[in-house]
Amino acid sequence: MRQSKLVLTRRQALKAVGGAAVTGLAVRGFPMPALAQGAPLRVGFMLPYTGTYAALAKNIDNAFRMYVAQKGDKLGGRAVEYVMVDDQAEPPKATENMNRLVDRDKVDVVVGTVHSGVQMAMVKIARETGKLLIIPNAGADAATRAACAPNVFRTSFSNWQPCYPVGKVMADAGHKTAMTITWKYAAGEEDVVAFKQGFGEHGGKVVGELWVPFPEVEFQSFLTQIAEKKPDGVFAFFAGGGAVKFVKDYAAAGLKKSIPLYGPGFLTDGTLQAQGEAAEGLKTTLHYADDLDNPADKAFRAEYAKRYGAQPDVYSVQGYDAAALLAIGMDAVKGDIKAADAMHKAMRAAKIDSPRGPLSFSASHNPIQNIYLREVKNGKNAYVKVAHAALADPGTGCKMT
Ligand code: BEZ
Repeated sequence: MRQSKLVLTRRQALKAVGGAAVTGLAVRGFPMPALAQGAPLRVGFMLPYTGTYAALAKNIDNAFRMYVAQKGDKLGGRAVEYVMVDDQAEPPKATENMNRLVDRDKVDVVVGTVHSGVQMAMVKIARETGKLLIIPNAGADAATRAACAPNVFRTSFSNWQPCYPVGKVMADAGHKTAMTITWKYAAGEEDVVAFKQGFGEHGGKVVGELWVPFPEVEFQSFLTQIAEKKPDGVFAFFAGGGAVKFVKDYAAAGLKKSIPLYGPGFLTDGTLQAQGEAAEGLKTTLHYADDLDNPADKAFRAEYAKRYGAQPDVYSVQGYDAAALLAIGMDAVKGDIKAADAMHKAMRAAKIDSPRGPLSFSASHNPIQNIYLREVKNGKNAYVKVAHAALADPGTGCKMT
């Protein structure tokens, strides 16, 4: 069955979950909406708290809360309360989940999500309702291209951003041919397009594309095909639990030395402890590294480690910056989130001293940021160099200027 058949329209989903709740909030024991400006700001997290992306969700959530806590638990002078929805990285449930936050839980802002397919259903509802949406991970290109909107902001990346520079990195290493292997859904597909563009511009040729159904982690037959084809290098996109398994299987298959593995940094971010020796030496590109050595990052890492007893990763940075961006908007309107135009204007103009380095936003509300080349050394994504400075997504098709 095609996925679109499974997705409820906003109207159907409202009927299913929201409609009844909207008319009977108090009676049914649901929280009343925050109506007054002085009432707590209701932040709705829509994240995949379970499944292969669960660790990503946790780190986004952790760091967002950490930022708010550092601000005295207030944004724009208002206390903050959270509502959490586990979207399970499942696109067919996305419309219903987003409607639940917007219509039943009456959140003021939605922060989510991780999976590009889920994201696009959320963007559609944000466009229809005008609800403020801050994307703390999913790279779906369209969210800040043709489907861009004044109330949709992203603090992570477009799928194009971390993948386009991999092409040059591989070409510079002398590779002329490559195979790609990714999960078959929007993120993987857009990653391959971006990589092929970058590799092609530097004389490289993709000689095979392998697609793994999401979120499956049975890689053996694909690895056999790579071994048979013998490309100069491999470009891979996997993240979270899938990245752990892929990197380990790639090394166990004996491919790591003969056919070097590259990809966007999701392949090794937040995963190194579990990947161990299998990840050592892998080169990836991303808007973060474990040792950027700037004051904002040092302070961020120290506080995160103190608070959560764990090292942060790129997902934590994106969650932290989602809160920082919201804070800028909330401060600009002194907590009056209904002053949407003024709030969006302040957010669009934001310049954030992020742990990742300087962070600003394009006209389509996507980050402008450095993309770093990193190499895994002693269990860390060590900074090698800036692969592409202040990289902005082309924003193709976005009508905002
Ligand atoms: C995505 O679906 O856009 C995505 C998920 C995990 C890491 C990076 C991108």
